[in-house]
Amino acid sequence: MHIGILTSGGDTPGLNAAIRGIGKAAINTHEMSVIGFRDGFKGLMQNRSIRLDRQALSGILTLGGTILGTSREKPHKMEVGGQQMDMTDAILENIEAHHLDALICLGGGGTQKNALRLHQAGAPIITLPKTIDKDVWGTDTTFGFDTALGIATDAIDRLHSTAHSHHRIVVVELMGHNAGWLALGAGLAGGADVILIPEIPYDIDAIADTVLQRRAGGSTFSIIAVSEGALSAEEYKMLADIEGRLAETKGDETRADDRAAAKAEMAVLEAHRKDATAGLSRRLEEMTGLEARVTILGHVQRGGTPSAQDRLLATRLGTAAADFAAKGTTGIMVATVNGEAVPVPLEDVAGKRAVVPGDHPWITTARNLGVGLGD
Ligand code: F6P
Repeated sequence: MHIGILTSGGDTPGLNAAIRGIGKAAINTHEMSVIGFRDGFKGLMQNRSIRLDRQALSGILTLGGTILGTSREKPHKMEVGGQQMDMTDAILENIEAHHLDALICLGGGGTQKNALRLHQAGAPIITLPKTIDKDVWGTDTTFGFDTALGIATDAIDRLHSTAHSHHRIVVVELMGHNAGWLALGAGLAGGADVILIPEIPYDIDAIADTVLQRRAGGSTFSIIAVSEGALSAEEYKMLADIEGRLAETKGDETRADDRAAAKAEMAVLEAHRKDATAGLSRRLEEMTGLEARVTILGHVQRGGTPSAQDRLLATRLGTAAADFAAKGTTGIMVATVNGEAVPVPLEDVAGKRAVVPGDHPWITTARNLGVGLGD
């Protein structure tokens, strides 16, 4: 049998552990030949591949990033010669030319959608869930999250001593896209005083109150962990309204003007959101009279050596993916559910997002601790 592997979307610690897991199980247990495509679906379309033999798979377990390279290109909307084109047919031809019995795509939510489209077009696809955001539906967790959680927690620990020494508010922005797992997890583990996540719209008065109450109680500093997707109650309402109008007018030629107006409002909101954490920090300075500083942790959360947990998870899911390929099971994502590697149909996964439920134990824990959630 022949299998191919690609990595798509943002890089994540544990990708190389997963590539190694798939490749070793495929070669050693199933006697398959394995190739990798460079830079995600783009490299597959351009037929840029490398042989993943024993030597290529050796020494990569502890490496961050992906030895294959990645991109956010979509098969059906690919940048070719300055234009967006549907390259699905070229991709299917390359899969056939390599006689692939399975193409294993390692990615987050966007990749699951692209993978389903390719599967529906006739490609034998298997996916693995990777992202630091932990927002892929149908799996208990994703590889990359644990490493990012450790990095973000370490950053909050370090910010504590400087916030404490200067009697400041420190607002630390964490990644996570539109899900609050990373900010909530690191905020709890790092002892943040306020944690703002996209799932709970915030009221700035409530945040200022938490800071002022801490000061009244003798704590002259506060750490505020804010997820990059966190929204104030007003922004939340605006976004819901714009998204509603975009959904309503989709594909309706007679409402093209309304759609254009909604898109323009979305662009204004997005531009405003780019500066949101700095804006929040400025407002809190004004409202509390305390000095504030902003730290945007950024891509450091995705960099470097994967944690032991992420290596284990990626290796377990990678070897399981090779087993499913050997059985001819495709059209699935290999998820981890209660410690087992289970196949979940791509139809069930694609287009959904796993966000933090309001009654999640981490939320209950934060409330019990007296951590401000901005509501
Ligand atoms: O999905 C992973 C992630 O790191 C998100 O947390 C973040 O919003 C996004 O990718 C950043 O994307 P880029 O790599 O394009 O900067």
